[in-house]
Amino acid sequence: MGSAAAAAAAFRFLLLPLAVVSPYIALVRGADIPAIGINYGQLGDDLPSPYRSIELIKSMQVTSVKLYDPNPEVMRLLAGSKIYVTVMVPNQEIVNINTNHSLAVRWVQDNVLAYYPQTMIRLIMVGNEILSHNASAEDMQIWNHLVPAMYKIKNILRANNIQNIKVGTPLAMDILQTTSPPSNATFRRDVALTVMPQLLRFLNSTKSYFFIDAYPYFPWSANPTNASLDYALFKSQRNYTDPGSGLVYSNFLDEMLDSVIFAMTKLGYPDIRLFISETGWPHGGDIDQPGANIYNAAIYNRNLVRRMTAKPPIGTPARPGVVIPTFIFSLYDENQKDGPGTERHWGLLHSDGRPVFDIDLTGSRADSEYRALPEGHNNEAYKGKIWCIAARGADMRGLGRELRYACNQGNGTCDALAPGKECYEPVSLIWHASYAFSSYWKQFRSQGATCYFNGLAVQTTRNPGSESCKFPSVTL
Ligand SMILES: *[C@@H]1O[C@H](CO)[C@@H](O)[C@H](O)[C@H]1NC(C)=O
Ligand SMILES: *[C@@H]1O[C@H](CO)[C@@H](O)[C@H](O)[C@H]1NC(C)=O
Ligand SMILES: *[C@@H]1O[C@H](CO)[C@@H](O)[C@H](O)[C@H]1NC(C)=O
Ligand SMILES: *[C@@H]1O[C@H](CO)[C@@H](O)[C@H](O)[C@H]1NC(C)=O
Ligand SMILES: *[C@@H]1O[C@H](CO)[C@@H](O)[C@H](O)[C@H]1NC(C)=O
Ligand SMILES: *[C@@H]1O[C@H](CO)[C@@H](O)[C@H](O)[C@H]1NC(C)=O
Ligand SMILES: *[C@@H]1O[C@H](CO)[C@@H](O)[C@H](O)[C@H]1NC(C)=O
Repeated sequence: MGSAAAAAAAFRFLLLPLAVVSPYIALVRGADIPAIGINYGQLGDDLPSPYRSIELIKSMQVTSVKLYDPNPEVMRLLAGSKIYVTVMVPNQEIVNINTNHSLAVRWVQDNVLAYYPQTMIRLIMVGNEILSHNASAEDMQIWNHLVPAMYKIKNILRANNIQNIKVGTPLAMDILQTTSPPSNATFRRDVALTVMPQLLRFLNSTKSYFFIDAYPYFPWSANPTNASLDYALFKSQRNYTDPGSGLVYSNFLDEMLDSVIFAMTKLGYPDIRLFISETGWPHGGDIDQPGANIYNAAIYNRNLVRRMTAKPPIGTPARPGVVIPTFIFSLYDENQKDGPGTERHWGLLHSDGRPVFDIDLTGSRADSEYRALPEGHNNEAYKGKIWCIAARGADMRGLGRELRYACNQGNGTCDALAPGKECYEPVSLIWHASYAFSSYWKQFRSQGATCYFNGLAVQTTRNPGSESCKFPSVTL
């Protein structure tokens, strides 16, 4: 046992008498990972400093943090903090790490050994959702290098006599071909016979975890009903029996987790432990995104934490009684994430560090001990027309750039804005940009385009057009 492991063991021993109030009680046996951790994403230009962020994390009684890159300042500040640390190998480093041994050694040296053991690094994530279905051609190139790079890193750690750092890779639910019912789940055909067997062999033989990003919010919001909202928020009165296995489910998350277990079992690996590398619920979003509100976000995260820290552990129907360590997404709202509005509203904290809602991350507080929450108001899908217009106060330079972008996608998006055409007047940047955004969004929404335009656009249900110029709208 290395000195760090010994220190950690001693630390746990000292804390045992305090178990009732300590988050350390939730440590997974033999794995040194607290049951609840937090994702510390930094895609915001208005976030507190790393120093203040770590103070905030401590004040939330969180003892495990996952980083999306090995930020040197954060890694240094975490030294001596008693916080377990998970670092990530950026996607674009994976090929280099596999093909260039000296680079791999150097990566581990610079980003792990330089801080270890004072910084309590316990997990290394190789890439982020690298096997996702919508991956770019460049990402797909990386697939073949993923597992070999994981072996490289593990071997370099071993060569340095480090046994207590696990190596894994977080995957998204789109790794599965089907998820319903869970017993019918299989991995996607394009990975099931290639990279997945390699990955499972690595995880099994190194006693690592299968890391999954699992968000009940997404399947629920694609088909939002009141009954299934309760099922997604862990407060369903109804249970669902999987006809294939006979197992009884009371919430969406368990179905997602067991789907992974059934898919792994079909490839011959029934015993690899699960780890939720991301989960959460957005507290805000756009008009076309139901259920993204503070009420649901608070209830989801509170119920999640209580469930994942329960003693004895609850586990899932396929694996009762087993702890599934979980990283909540996310510490902050991150204003530089693009995509739909929810993307910028996953935080437990606002970007200035204020909590979005009360939450006890040790899982010991009962519902009745929380202050009342504002009711969720948008739990049903909006029905009607929506337009996408320039946001109030949008920066004019940026607006010009986004207007050109929207009009340059072809397909006549901006034909009506040409001189003499019905929407040319009034000749203002706001008017033209708003028309172009609405037109572009209507045309490309079905292909995943969002009403974002680098933060310069917002959705509206008020018809922005005029008598002579009709703005294209999205009809829900
Ligand atoms: C391997 O990486 C090192 C940097 O760590 C670099 O100096 C060297 O040129 C690389 N070798 C190849 C073949 O790319
Ligand atoms: C795939 O989709 C996810 C979620 O919509 C997004 O975060 C990610 O950036 C996408 N990846 C690529 C390569 O487009
Ligand atoms: C299981 O999946 C297969 C195809 O993936 C499908 O044909 C079958 O109906 C599914 N079974 C159930 C019970 O849904
Ligand atoms: C997985 O690991 C266990 C324990 O090390 C081992 O007994 C089992 O044979 C492995 N499974 C496979 C399919 O290699
Ligand atoms: C769903 O819940 C909302 C608010 O709680 C309520 O107004 C609405 O009538 C419910 N819809 C159905 C179909 O029960
Ligand atoms: C649903 O399942 C849970 C636990 O599996 C059980 O406690 C509860 O009584 C069940 N509810 C119903 C309505 O069967
Ligand atoms: C836009 O036009 C291009 C070619 O001009 C075509 O391939 C594409 O399918 C069109 N898209 C839509 C949404 O009409």
